[in-house]
Amino acid sequence: MAAIFKTGRQADPCTMVIFGASGDLTKRLLVPALYNLKHAKLLPEGFRLIGVARSEHPNDAFREDFTKAIKDFATGPVVTEQWDDLVSRVSYLSGAFDDPATYQKLLDDLTEAGGGPDAIGNCLFYLATAPEFFATIVERLAAAGLTREAGETWRRVIIEKPFGHDLDSARALNTELQAVLAERQIYRIDHYLGKETVQNIMVFRFANGIFEPLWNRDHIDHVQITVAETVGVEARGGFYEQTGALRDMIPNHIFQLLSFVGMEAPTSFAADALRSEKVKVLDSIRPLDAASVLTDAVRGQYGAGVLNEKPVWAYRAEPKIAPDSMTETYAALKLNIDNWRWAGVPFYLRTGKRLPRRMSEIAIQFKRAPIAVFRDTPVEDVGSNLLVIRIQPDEGVSLQFGAKIPGTALDIGNVKMNFQYKDYFQSAPSTGYETLIYDAMIGDATLFQRADNVEAGWKVVQPVIDAWASRRPRDFPNYEAGTQGPRQADELLARDGRVWRKI
Ligand code: BG6
Repeated sequence: MAAIFKTGRQADPCTMVIFGASGDLTKRLLVPALYNLKHAKLLPEGFRLIGVARSEHPNDAFREDFTKAIKDFATGPVVTEQWDDLVSRVSYLSGAFDDPATYQKLLDDLTEAGGGPDAIGNCLFYLATAPEFFATIVERLAAAGLTREAGETWRRVIIEKPFGHDLDSARALNTELQAVLAERQIYRIDHYLGKETVQNIMVFRFANGIFEPLWNRDHIDHVQITVAETVGVEARGGFYEQTGALRDMIPNHIFQLLSFVGMEAPTSFAADALRSEKVKVLDSIRPLDAASVLTDAVRGQYGAGVLNEKPVWAYRAEPKIAPDSMTETYAALKLNIDNWRWAGVPFYLRTGKRLPRRMSEIAIQFKRAPIAVFRDTPVEDVGSNLLVIRIQPDEGVSLQFGAKIPGTALDIGNVKMNFQYKDYFQSAPSTGYETLIYDAMIGDATLFQRADNVEAGWKVVQPVIDAWASRRPRDFPNYEAGTQGPRQADELLARDGRVWRKI
């Protein structure tokens, strides 16, 4: 059962080995998350952390780097004794990821007390490297005997995003990993699953009696999922040029949201029960083909504009971006889920950079009530009920409904009931990685992607990737930074008589 639904016990004794330990992810997210786990007394007794990266670093310098990282990126006040204790458990190992000698050194380090690979206890290997190293690292770990589980001992590998670049590469990576690891040893991260508000979708749906009976095509008109960002490509131009908004956000993060909203109730919150339901929703999506990509998929790229009253560069003027780049920074899709629950209920998805506001939400638009009863009144239209699950920022849930506007005439206005997390819960600040790291330490894969989950996501978007690769966009840049996105995205909904919610 997922750790989120249990009270925390200390994680199993283990050593964590981070590959890519001097990178950004480690400093910004993993170090603060480990500190938060330490603070919450969830890290195991005798915990050790070994950082592996290519550059040469003495242990002390590496620990200093971590101490700087915690100063810069801690999510709350840091208790000195706790930090000192954590950092004293950190050591560094320098080596190339493809060099078998690195793994021999790692083995020596882990077996300081003597004995072979079977004597070193539980190990959690975290691959925070560039994706081209994932398969090599796992293969080398296996060759050194470090992934072999004996008796009660476990060896687990956390794989960061991006998992593949398209369906074929994701399948190939799965094959390479599964050649040396059992599926239960593989923890594929999607950091959206670490977000409380994403986990809450399951609780909202399945712990309340009043929503689920309405959660289907009889009552829901359509669903809009938006992940809007104000940031541009920042310092990640090299990566983003090869990736684009579709690959970066849709088969992974946005499909997590879609799966939780669309899935059937799992038989339990056991990892496989939940993951099997998630994969079924993605498998039920009507496959797109070249013709439907033309009508149901929209891509965009931002030009220069104004955001938060400041001028911002066009995408093509950002560092490491080609001046004639054809990479999309915005993607919108209309998807149909052809199953009994959702047939006829379109799911509209959109994501983009340099949009006016950071806003991730799921909007469930219910069908309108019949107007007939208001026939002889001034009411011309009844609004429709709208349930909005706000993922970030301003986390919460709101329900919009019609109310009589006070006065002698009968008129209706839309009003909102609004739940905000901050009004009810004082959650400890977190990076979102705490639950994920902790779950991997206790062997709970509920919030990780199984091989088929990842492949199902790529399968849905592959026709879009192919169609977009074969036709160059003619109008890039087609939206100004700081605006709602390309006009074609509005047209996509307008053709169905609908409009996007304003970002
Ligand atoms: C990452 C993408 O996976 O998710 C980024 O590579 C994106 O481009 C980020 O900005 C969004 O995450 P969050 O948690 O800020 O919504």
